[in-house]
Amino acid sequence: MTRRALVTGGAGFIGSHLAERLLRLGYAVTVLDDLSSGLREYVPAGADFLRGDVRRLGDVQAAFARPPDVVAHVAGQASTVRSFDDPGWDLSVNAVGTLNVLHACLAARTPRLLLASSMTIYGHPERLPVPESLPPRPISYYGVSKWAAERAVLLTSERTDLPAPFRATAFRMFNVYGERQSLENPYQGVLGIFLGNVLRDERIRIFGDGEQSRDFVHVDDVVRAWTDAIDREASFGKAINLGSGERISINALVDAVLRAQGRDRSGGVVEYGPARPGDQRHMCADLSLAREVLGFQPAVSLDDGLERTLAWARGQAASAGRAP
Ligand code: NAD
Ligand code: UD1
Repeated sequence: MTRRALVTGGAGFIGSHLAERLLRLGYAVTVLDDLSSGLREYVPAGADFLRGDVRRLGDVQAAFARPPDVVAHVAGQASTVRSFDDPGWDLSVNAVGTLNVLHACLAARTPRLLLASSMTIYGHPERLPVPESLPPRPISYYGVSKWAAERAVLLTSERTDLPAPFRATAFRMFNVYGERQSLENPYQGVLGIFLGNVLRDERIRIFGDGEQSRDFVHVDDVVRAWTDAIDREASFGKAINLGSGERISINALVDAVLRAQGRDRSGGVVEYGPARPGDQRHMCADLSLAREVLGFQPAVSLDDGLERTLAWARGQAASAGRAP
């Protein structure tokens, strides 16, 4: 029998890739998204689309009209910086939204929930690479809301008083990049921002000294891990890091982006501004648990992934430049 999957946030960057992969695996897919940062055209053909806000329980319940076998809760506000502008809004989208999804799962007896958590919950970790066993100590409101959401789904997964089986897995994703990452939105991931800057001939702005580092992982590697986890009992009840296991400084990333476009820093294309609040200094994933539980092995190197993303971004820039 065809299994049903609900992907919240399936019109966004990561969610649209996940919805696509679930369809390829034979799932009947429904996407719930309010299109606040996602695009309707990113919802893959073949998926049902419902426009709705995860902060509204009624909208979430409508997506459970035909109860799914698995829910991938990807919808969220993804920006660390915006969480400082409006912490209450961040908390309501990321934490209350997750509680609504959780409530609907229990009411519909949906047995499986996968959650988009984040490496931001670690704050400034005491060692690198970061294993899941380090205590969370977020330094941004975004990290707090992701930690609240993660703990809520995992504690529910541990409950023994529920009438039906319920198992959750949270993915602490590091810096995910790839095709369909926004090239225009200044609140989305840094790689898409830099690619957009370079293709539009704008200056690149680095916040802080640029020596902060991040672990960039391609979206294909990430969504493969999500779908591999669905039936993998060893992943039930766990929070699992998803990264590449390598880190690169933001300065080096800028140079790689410029080089891929056949350019360098000449002409003052790179400028520096003040560091942003809640900015972590160094991050890198320890992938031991992901390897053990999911057999996770990132397949896309940063060089290849950057090339692929740049090719996609050039296509976007070309079609944006064409007359309607
Ligand atoms: P994105 O903005 O492209 O995707 C988020 C999607 O959720 C969008 O389609 C948006 O329209 C939708 N959405 C937002 N608020 C909603 C609401 N109230 N109701 C319904 N839909 C809503 O961002 P993304 O990079 O694909 O991130 C997806 C998820 O993964 C987010 O929860 C984010 O916090 C998390 N995450 C992202 C990264 C990363 O590096 N991109 C890393 C760790 C965690
Ligand atoms: C990112 C994600 C977050 C996710 C987390 C986990 C976004 C917007 N944020 O947070 O959802 O949970 O990873 O991996 O996708 N920078 C610049 N210039 C710019 C933009 C950014 O120098 O124009 C710097 C930032 O100050 C930061 C680094 O680049 O030091 C990465 O920034 P960003 O991509 O916004 O992500 P994170 O805060 O790491």
